[in-house]
Amino acid sequence: MKNIFLILNFCLIFNSISCTSEYSSDNADMDRFISDLINRMTLEEKIGQLHLISGTDAISGEDLTSNQSKILQEIKNGKIGALINAKGVKKIRNLQKIAVEESRLKIPLLFGMDFLHGYETIFPIPLGMAASWNMDIIKEAAHIAAVEASADGLNWIYSPMVDIARDPRWGRIAEGAGEDPFIGGEIAKAQVNGYQGEPAFANNTNILACVKHYALYGASEAGRDYSVVDMSRQRMFNDYLYPYKAAVDAGVGSLMSSFNEVNGIPATANKWLLQNVLRDQWGFDGFVVSDYAAINDIIRFGLGDSYRAATLALKAGTDMDMESYAYYHNLKKALDARDISIQEIENACRRILEAKYKMGLFKNPYKYCDTTRYLNDIYTEKHRNIARKIASETFVLLKNSKNILPLKKTGTIALIGPHGNNRPNMLGSWGWPSDINKAATLLEGIKKAVGNEAKIMYARGCQPYENMEHEAWLSLSKDFEKDRRSDSELLNEALMIVQKADVIIAALGESAEMSGESSSRSDLNIPEPQKNLLKELSKTGKPLVLVLFTGRPLTISWENENLSTILNVWFPGTEAAYAIPDVLFGKINPSGKLTASWPQNTGQIPVYYNIKNVSKPMDKWFQKFRSGYLDVNNEPLYPFGYGLSYTNFDYGEIKLSDTVMKNNETITASIEITNSGKIDGYETVQLYISDLVASTVRPIKELKGFEKIFIKAGESKIANFKITIEMLKFYNYNLEYIYEPGKFKLMIGKNSKDFKSTEFTLN
Ligand code: BGC
Repeated sequence: MKNIFLILNFCLIFNSISCTSEYSSDNADMDRFISDLINRMTLEEKIGQLHLISGTDAISGEDLTSNQSKILQEIKNGKIGALINAKGVKKIRNLQKIAVEESRLKIPLLFGMDFLHGYETIFPIPLGMAASWNMDIIKEAAHIAAVEASADGLNWIYSPMVDIARDPRWGRIAEGAGEDPFIGGEIAKAQVNGYQGEPAFANNTNILACVKHYALYGASEAGRDYSVVDMSRQRMFNDYLYPYKAAVDAGVGSLMSSFNEVNGIPATANKWLLQNVLRDQWGFDGFVVSDYAAINDIIRFGLGDSYRAATLALKAGTDMDMESYAYYHNLKKALDARDISIQEIENACRRILEAKYKMGLFKNPYKYCDTTRYLNDIYTEKHRNIARKIASETFVLLKNSKNILPLKKTGTIALIGPHGNNRPNMLGSWGWPSDINKAATLLEGIKKAVGNEAKIMYARGCQPYENMEHEAWLSLSKDFEKDRRSDSELLNEALMIVQKADVIIAALGESAEMSGESSSRSDLNIPEPQKNLLKELSKTGKPLVLVLFTGRPLTISWENENLSTILNVWFPGTEAAYAIPDVLFGKINPSGKLTASWPQNTGQIPVYYNIKNVSKPMDKWFQKFRSGYLDVNNEPLYPFGYGLSYTNFDYGEIKLSDTVMKNNETITASIEITNSGKIDGYETVQLYISDLVASTVRPIKELKGFEKIFIKAGESKIANFKITIEMLKFYNYNLEYIYEPGKFKLMIGKNSKDFKSTEFTLN
């Protein structure tokens, strides 16, 4: 009833747009509707649709600053197509109202934001989510983020972030799925469907997704953010482009071009990427938005001034300019000078209007502006419970050689370390859309978990970083600043407490701002004061559990050698304080597995499992005249796919339905897995394939399938994988996507290093 009223009401308001046939999802109707609209738009209004600006400052009402009045006036004049970072449904509704009631053509606005691991209920960072290998929960988390954000007026999310990253020095590895294209692609699909819904935009909790950062941003040279990307096209197509394409195939409605250049052409001005590959080859029919002020970066790349940057970006296929004001200032001039055509402006405008149409915003511009939903749909108990369960599924048990975990709830437990009692640090790099001071601390969570059964004592033990004055440590330092005692004072206090304890939980690692954008590191150790503390704690000889917080693979060779127990928890989000004890005390059996290899030292980087064959592989360390190092072997500390459980899983032998696969047929590979321990648990069974004889040099193995299965203690289950011709295809030297007959090695196992194998032949 209410919806009918809204539509009727809207038809009255929209007297300049016919309300009869334009609401069908049929493309011919959409084309007609948009062509009609574009015919009535002035040049300024068309360029306006391509202009995205920050809405942090945008409010409507009285006593406006001049900037605020300017934004409102621009909306009224139809000179803005979208806003980023406007927060709060009432404010957004007011802004939308100005657009659809006071502007000449009443075109609704998009309201975007980055809430890529949760809006108010924060989930683990994406690299942690990937470690769950559970596509259902990844989709569910995306859906909840969309439910909460849309209840607060937002209709566009800048996620999924699918940049393959093989260099953990790059801080943004935290925001994606790690080093592997296949799992990256699966996650991309799950997220797109979680945000947009299936079918897309069917209701007001389905929002527009934006896959980013296209393209190859994760391959930044030396792991430095915004750095050089120079890569062969074969590598691009075989490894790096796959997850973007997976998002496109899943129907993602928008795409963000990246900050980096690709082989000499900035991604935002790269016609080959944005037109030839994205639109012509992949059939992407959404719109492209630049990254934040990325059109201005074209100037810094040395390709010309703002005028030239704007023309290059538009001609390449960047439809919307985020915050550069380059289109706003230059496109009219460029059109007058015939450096661009009206068709190019209209193409971009059309793609943006189409997205608004498909989302249903022309039908109901207030679709995402229900001013009551936020009271019931945000940070609900239900969402928080799900976040807790999801978080515990992302933790990776890196070592438990003395079976100290799970802990018993008895005696005295000493919680030591700066991350043991720090609220904002629980959330991770994109936690800021929520209230970062809302999460409980680990200390609070552990106390709640043990109740009266054990005594909990806490000491901070050290400062989180060597140099607390370093301006890189922004938000969290404030929390840490409350206690500025010296490291030796803090250590003495910790050691006093530890003396009385039966077991030590050391909560250490990176703090949230050490990963994410502009947070590259050249040293991937736990910061020195924390490592010194850890050494002192381990000298006590007491049972010690390292609870490791991190946004990236770290170099923890010393810890691996000297400690028996390491649980990696990433940044687990809003419910971290409860999810961590769930695993520590055995309510949940950990099942996370790494999706990025952990190096032994930074000199090994990049270290990734799907490396190509080399001319002189080193079979064992050390061999002269082989590919490797004098001072360290080539193995990662923890390989891709690795993660322990409180139980053991034993793998039988692989059974193939046939050892010969005929063209266009499939074979099945099965393997029995037995839970030979005493605790029920989940195991992620991984399938890898290696092309043994090919026309080009191929990777030593590639992930081609996985299945996460629950096996009760003492029971066995069979995992079945269908091997299809698709799994054997790759881009050859001429960039043809082909498969080649011959022998293949098939591996099924616990991780990329521990597997059973067999061979089959493709005829
Ligand atoms: C980041 C993007 C983000 C954008 C808008 C940029 O700095 O690279 O990932 O979506 O800002 O917040």
